[in-house]
Amino acid sequence: MRVVELPARHWAQVRTGDERYLCVRQGGVLTVILDRCKHRGGPLSKGTWDEKTESITCPWHELINSPRDLCRRKVPSVRVGNVLRIVIPDEG
Ligand code: FES
Repeated sequence: MRVVELPARHWAQVRTGDERYLCVRQGGVLTVILDRCKHRGGPLSKGTWDEKTESITCPWHELINSPRDLCRRKVPSVRVGNVLRIVIPDEG
């Protein structure tokens, strides 16, 4: 198990191993999601954030990842001061 931190701000990103994580503000709350589009795993962090709908348009095929889609990619996180901590389970 590993603990990874990223800044507690919208659009903060971190990479660890083969995985990328992105912080987004949804409903006024900062959450951490897998930085992977629902279609073929494109990098949402390189996409376009729509503040009004709180959705991300993927840069690869321009599919819109709705708040519900983003919620499905949510990983548990806890805020400690100015950082968000996520726990990455060991593989296997
Ligand atoms: S990978 Fe995101 S739209 Fe295809």
